[in-house]
Amino acid sequence: MISDEQRNQLVNAALAARDRSYAPYSRYRVGSAVLTEDGTIVTGCNVENASYGATICAERVALTRAVAEGKRDFVAIAVATADGGTPCGICRQVMVELGSEMDVFISDSAGALLSTSVRALLPDSFDGSGLIASN
Ligand code: THU
Repeated sequence: MISDEQRNQLVNAALAARDRSYAPYSRYRVGSAVLTEDGTIVTGCNVENASYGATICAERVALTRAVAEGKRDFVAIAVATADGGTPCGICRQVMVELGSEMDVFISDSAGALLSTSVRALLPDSFDGSGLIASN
């Protein structure tokens, strides 16, 4: 479990990242921040595209940025929206892949929190274990 101070820092980073959202089509702004084992926070925001399917969610921006920066051990992720919306299915699947033991903090713009976990958001998930075993 992370400290209250770390959790507040993480949620504040997600709220700040939300201000950098590029969402001209949906106007639904999302920020995210991931905390690594070494205490680093990496942020992401949703980046939309005129070809709607090319849009990338805030959570996946944060996680893929962190991987690109050499981080692999993820402790927690925060997601911030106006209304406390929960992560989409694709983002849940990516969370299982990269940080299945993460705590997840879901915040609205006032900072009201829902605390959950990747395991709770995507139970009985498909992961790579069967794929590796069959190689
Ligand atoms: N979005 C996210 O960034 N994260 C989610 O988990 C759900 C959806 C974004 C994608 C799109 O830019 C906008 O929210 C509306 O779907």
